[in-house]
Amino acid sequence: MTAVDDHASDVQQQGDGVLADLFFTPEGIADPAPLYHRLRELAPVHRSGTGTIFLTRFDDCNEVLRDNRFGNGDSNEGLGLPSADPATDEFRRDQRRRMADRPQSLLFLDPPDHTRQRRLVSRAFTPRRVEKMRGTIAALARRYVDDLAEAGEGDLLDLVGFPFPVSVIGALVGVPEADWPRFRSLITRGAVGIEPTASIEELRDGEQANTETWEYFVDLVAERRARPQDDLLSDLIRVEEEGDQLSEAEVIVVAILIFAAGFETTTNLIGNGTAALLRNPTEMARLWSDETLLPTAVEEMLRWDSPVQFDVRRALQPAEVAGEPVGEGTAVVTLLGAANRDPSHFSDPDRFDVGRDEGPPLSFAAGIHYCLGANLARAEGQEVFRAMRDRFRTIELAGALVQRPRTTLRGYEAVPVRVTPR
Ligand code: HEM
Repeated sequence: MTAVDDHASDVQQQGDGVLADLFFTPEGIADPAPLYHRLRELAPVHRSGTGTIFLTRFDDCNEVLRDNRFGNGDSNEGLGLPSADPATDEFRRDQRRRMADRPQSLLFLDPPDHTRQRRLVSRAFTPRRVEKMRGTIAALARRYVDDLAEAGEGDLLDLVGFPFPVSVIGALVGVPEADWPRFRSLITRGAVGIEPTASIEELRDGEQANTETWEYFVDLVAERRARPQDDLLSDLIRVEEEGDQLSEAEVIVVAILIFAAGFETTTNLIGNGTAALLRNPTEMARLWSDETLLPTAVEEMLRWDSPVQFDVRRALQPAEVAGEPVGEGTAVVTLLGAANRDPSHFSDPDRFDVGRDEGPPLSFAAGIHYCLGANLARAEGQEVFRAMRDRFRTIELAGALVQRPRTTLRGYEAVPVRVTPR
């Protein structure tokens, strides 16, 4: 072994140590940013001992997400995290086999299947539909923020962060209001599948939750087919392009994806954003005194503490990133949370600045899988913080902030607050 090889293997070990801290320790869960910086400084294109590549620079992540040589491929291969339990990878493979009769959702498709499904879905889920909802979004935000104002104290997630996005997405998709409460647990449990550190018990529980959700939507789609209404579900059933339509099973999968993607992430935008304001009182005062800062403040919340911390792609053919060769089949993890703190893209990246205007963060990803609900999520973020500004003279923390032990979807278990209404 040469001195150069020695150095490379030393860097690889150190990098893998940082990743193990990031994914598997309470410190990594509490505040990943210092570890992102360490990894970026050590090896911005880090090839771990398992062969998986981890990216921490904005430009590299952005490039891979927009490059169609990277995609989902055969996602059965597992993420290849250092010190992950191989038995869970095997369990995931079995799980996929059990669910082989359900079509894949957009998130896990590659072109041309992705192109076809996304085109059909986009015909139903149009920017106009979101724009038409702006008034409803604002009214719903005020309703839940009023609940918190009346309570004076409580968990912001219970009172606003969860019920608000679920009511928006429920109204949009056409899920009856009486059924919304049960989905908080079903969707959160089901989403565990995208967490690389989930245990077999959690994966099993997630599968059960997903089956329950699936059965619910089978019935709801049948009901809408019989009696269409003015909602997204009825449009997804109807939508057609050049003689092509979504199949029954595709309608179900898409409706579940939109419903699920539409609230856990937004709940976390509201929770993480409020926590960021509470930790940065000067920035909160700035926003409270200037309503025009709402759009940049929401972008900054998304950047500073991104609800989705990373995406995974696989090289569908030999490719390269930042000049480094990437063999076919290699998994590439774009650490969106790290890209959003890259000092070569954002000035003084660890500073939370509600007026920052340096372009959008990578929180909604980029390229063909760019978040379909980004406009809706932004509108919800702006309306809920507008309602809080209008209604609360002050907000303060009324207890400890408890981070959920998750690495992909980042958020809190609870955000206990005390508010003084205006
Ligand atoms: C703050 C809130 C949100 C965040 C941070 C977020 C983030 C993301 C990210 C990072 C992706 C790309 C995943 C990948 O590349 O593998 C994505 C995709 C997606 N999001 Fe969102 N999302 C949010 C809200 C929403 C909402 C409100 C909806 C629906 C109404 C939604 C629907 C979707 C869908 C359908 C996709 C899949 C698109 C595709 O694969 O072509 N999201 N989202």
